[in-house]
Amino acid sequence: MIKVFVYSSLEEREGILMKKRIVAVLTGMMMVLMTGCGDSDMIVLTPKGDARIEDDGSAKDAAAENTQKKEETQEPETETENTESSSGDLIHVGFAQVGSESGWRLAQTQSMKGAFTEENGYQFDFVDCNNDQKTQIEALQKFVQDQVDYIILDPIVEDGYEDVLKEAQTANIPVIVVDRNISADESLYACWLGSDFTNEGKSAGDWLVEDLQKKGRDSEEINILTILGSNGASATIGRTDGFEEVAKEHSNWKLLDKQSGNFTKDGGNAVMKAYLKQYDDIDVLVCQNDDEAFGAIEAIKEAGKTCGPNGDIIVISFDAGGEAFQAMIDGDINVDVECNPLEGPAVSELIKQLRNGETVEKVQYMEEGVFPAEEAEATLPNRAY
Ligand code: AHR
Repeated sequence: MIKVFVYSSLEEREGILMKKRIVAVLTGMMMVLMTGCGDSDMIVLTPKGDARIEDDGSAKDAAAENTQKKEETQEPETETENTESSSGDLIHVGFAQVGSESGWRLAQTQSMKGAFTEENGYQFDFVDCNNDQKTQIEALQKFVQDQVDYIILDPIVEDGYEDVLKEAQTANIPVIVVDRNISADESLYACWLGSDFTNEGKSAGDWLVEDLQKKGRDSEEINILTILGSNGASATIGRTDGFEEVAKEHSNWKLLDKQSGNFTKDGGNAVMKAYLKQYDDIDVLVCQNDDEAFGAIEAIKEAGKTCGPNGDIIVISFDAGGEAFQAMIDGDINVDVECNPLEGPAVSELIKQLRNGETVEKVQYMEEGVFPAEEAEATLPNRAY
């Protein structure tokens, strides 16, 4: 069963929401509000602190009722409906997304859009911030101006959000931070749900320790290159720190270079081409996401070298999307450390709980695994992304 925690900084906000609901009851909207909340859905926390959604179907019933009501009143379905003209019976949510740089990012966007539908009781404003923090801060300011009910922020970088978070707090709009971390004081946002990037980096390092041991290469000099993600992103910082923590324990590991590929295929390709010109003897390539790995693999093959479990260069990747599983099956990637993008339903559940005046855990991690190439074929059919 769900655990409920008391989070005092949202009390004022939830009190205001409660008053709004009472007004809505008086104006004849009680049925819509009560059924729209989906208040029987639960976040079930696993022993690892991960969240699983259990839906008893009430949200669907509510959505069906809302849809029927809309049809009866012949409310027009227009593009602009999801901007400033909130109908009042939907929960208005603004999501400031990082961008669309990777397959992972597209899967996360899809997960959010799938969860925050009108059928599920939401008015959803989505902004692709194109990996530009200025654009992202402007998107957040617009959400505050529009007086959305909740803001979801996937921060492009860790620093620089304090002022806009204060603006949201002054406007009594709870902010839910997802995926990446921010350095701002935690009193400035309601909660955070995402990945443990440092742990992901450590997992990659631990896998390499074992792999080299299995091959009897554990005391050999091992030349390692890293293609970093975007500079300043917590995914980059955590994965680098975690991997280097393991590397510190192995004096035979030579960390030759680390350059950013911006989490893109083109970036990975360009950095790898430069590495191949500069370094003759490469034992291990760490790509901080799958897209970079795809670009790097192309560069390796073009240079007449091989990679993967039977190749010259060991390739370690992060994200573990479906295409990367295929690359493991094809023999190009040795291991993939998962970063789970399916955050939409869990974030929706958090919002419902906050709306009901409940308190949620401040920090929640997504469930993630490590997938070596030899398990890829058996695992691929069970993957959701
Ligand atoms: O923040 C998560 C990272 O961002 C993913 O690893 C990467 O693919 C994405 O762009």
